[in-house]
Amino acid sequence: MKTMKVGMIGGGFMAKAHSLAMTAVPMFYEDDVRLEKHIIADIDEPSADAAAKKLGFSHSTSDWKTIINNPEVDIVDIVTPNHLHEEMAIAAAEAGKHIMCEKPLGRNAEETARILAAVDKAGVKHMVTFNYRRTPAVALAKKYIDEGAVGKILNFRGTYLQDWSADPGSPLSWRFDKDFAGSGTLGDIGTHVLDIAHYLVADIVEVNAMTRTWIDERPVQASQKDSLGNVKMPNGKKGQVTVDDELVTMLKFNNGAIGSLEATRNAWGRHNFLTFEIHGEKGSLFFNYERRDELQVCFSEDPEDRRGYKKVYTGGVHPYGEGLWPIPGLGIGYSEVKIIEMHEFLSAIMNDRVCEPSFKEGHRIAQVTDAILNSAEEQRWTKTNAHA
Ligand SMILES: NC(=O)c1ccc[n+]([C@@H]2O[C@H](COP(=O)([O-])OP(=O)(O)OC[C@H]3O[C@@H](n4cnc5c(N)ncnc54)[C@H](O)[C@@H]3O)[C@@H](O)[C@H]2O)c1
Repeated sequence: MKTMKVGMIGGGFMAKAHSLAMTAVPMFYEDDVRLEKHIIADIDEPSADAAAKKLGFSHSTSDWKTIINNPEVDIVDIVTPNHLHEEMAIAAAEAGKHIMCEKPLGRNAEETARILAAVDKAGVKHMVTFNYRRTPAVALAKKYIDEGAVGKILNFRGTYLQDWSADPGSPLSWRFDKDFAGSGTLGDIGTHVLDIAHYLVADIVEVNAMTRTWIDERPVQASQKDSLGNVKMPNGKKGQVTVDDELVTMLKFNNGAIGSLEATRNAWGRHNFLTFEIHGEKGSLFFNYERRDELQVCFSEDPEDRRGYKKVYTGGVHPYGEGLWPIPGLGIGYSEVKIIEMHEFLSAIMNDRVCEPSFKEGHRIAQVTDAILNSAEEQRWTKTNAHA
């Protein structure tokens, strides 16, 4: 059994999700490797120390470069705000570390191109953590498509709707600042659906988009962490929001399919409403993350008087089921999706495979998001290979 030491950079929301997955993954999947949570960095000593104690790391530091320079560290896991991904990922690649980096890979395609060049040169393994494609029901959709069950795909209709930023009293965290985030709803949640669209349908070649910023000022917060709307500061001093709150875009795929994506974090009543519907010549598929154990399927070959959506509840016989709970109805949550993602990362390292989705895919998504922002600004169809 091999042991690999992890250095994690960032101690917030995703640090918790990744740390939990690192501890739990051997209880679910056999990858012949154990991860040792060696060292974690955060913005200052007290935050790093608190994160290490809470998340189970042996050491902590307020200087992330200590992790890069530590020869004992095999894997660098980057879970900081987006503006730091480029410098950290390039430094980790140059030091010969395998890298897991949260999405979006960078703030724009110029950054992601430099990150991709660095990992290609270093020959290290790399994964950008678009975790939702690892939901068993989404992987099952992929299986139906690959087996030809829905035929040629005609249309992909994706949404990602949340409501945590609908309250104007939610503070101006890094997610609302272009310098830190690159974009707003688009990079934060829209990219997850773009990744699923690439995974299930084909490469997106052209977009025609609109974006809106509904709340252009928010109360300034002191903390580096984003509370995702769980802290309200209704009377705070206000600062400018410089990113999109909402986007709507049409999509053209390179296999001829068409589609759309709508994403917002201002949709009251929608919490993590990540959905897609795919229509093919022989059938349709529908998924909603708020019902994440289920995939709805409809086939044209069913008798006309019985035709309609049926619900397939995922369990042991479905993708990743071998490691999950023995009774399907127990269901899965966000943690299990992150555990599956960690398993995919480790399995790719151990079997010398490309980690999917790799930084190559992270870069491609950045090219699409750049095109969406350009299209929204110029109000026209825009090709996604402008930065290729
Ligand atoms: N895959 C998903 O479902 C998902 C969900 C949420 C966030 N994310 C992504 O994860 C990343 C982190 O988001 P989050 O929600 O965990 O943010 P967060 O605000 O909760 O945490 C960010 C952490 O980084 C630390 N940090 C900031 N600058 C640092 C530095 N120079 N050195 C070390 N630490 C530093 C902060 O102090 C904080 O602890 C972002 O890229 C985000 O887009 C992905």
